[in-house]
Amino acid sequence: DPATIDLSKDAAARAAVQLVENGMKLGLGTGSTAKVFVDRLAERVHAEGMDLRCASTSKATADQARNLGLVVMELDDLGWLDLTIDGADEVDPDLNLIKGGGAAHLREKIVATASDRMVVVADQGKVVDCLGKFKLPVEVIPFGWQSTRTHIERVLEELGMAERPAILRERDGKPVLTDESNLILDLALEQIHDARALARGLSSIAGVVEHGLFLNICSLAIIGCPDGSVVELR
Ligand code: A5P
Repeated sequence: DPATIDLSKDAAARAAVQLVENGMKLGLGTGSTAKVFVDRLAERVHAEGMDLRCASTSKATADQARNLGLVVMELDDLGWLDLTIDGADEVDPDLNLIKGGGAAHLREKIVATASDRMVVVADQGKVVDCLGKFKLPVEVIPFGWQSTRTHIERVLEELGMAERPAILRERDGKPVLTDESNLILDLALEQIHDARALARGLSSIAGVVEHGLFLNICSLAIIGCPDGSVVELR
């Protein structure tokens, strides 16, 4: 139920805020859990007079963080980051992730891989044995996107995943555009048995900008529970 999930997100966010140290360069994620983290972070920064510089993974988070008085800069003006905290759509036991439910996975992956450490904050509903129930977001260039979709279907076929739909993400009857003005195809895969092969196949297609598989990027997942406690997956 939504109230339980909110308590869980808050628990994860509070625990993640404790990882932040004065002087850090911090990557801020996108989505409802990352949003709670930014709220809790701003509280601590103001309470303790911390000096932080942040890079954001989306316009939405940058606006939120600036409104709360956090210092948000361009990633390239910060260079390498100490830590990125972000949400996820799915987390498996090896800490591989599906991200991009909020259409921000391209910038999220750039920021996460420009950081010494990426930590995920999530509620228990995100933890899965096998990735794939959540539709895998793939950001594609608008030019020739239907040909790109055909290439994606061929890759899926080669990996034994024929007939899995690649659905153009729409909102209010219009295609969703990412912060980079690209489109999102959501792949309904159900179960991803070889995430590495799938990631390679998708990345080999010209019109694919980035897929939402985060493999070997996250080093800690903080899973919040409704009673305020957390479970850490390493
Ligand atoms: C944004 O593109 C995603 O990768 C989010 O991090 C993911 O969708 C998690 O969002 P919630 O915290 O809202 O579930």
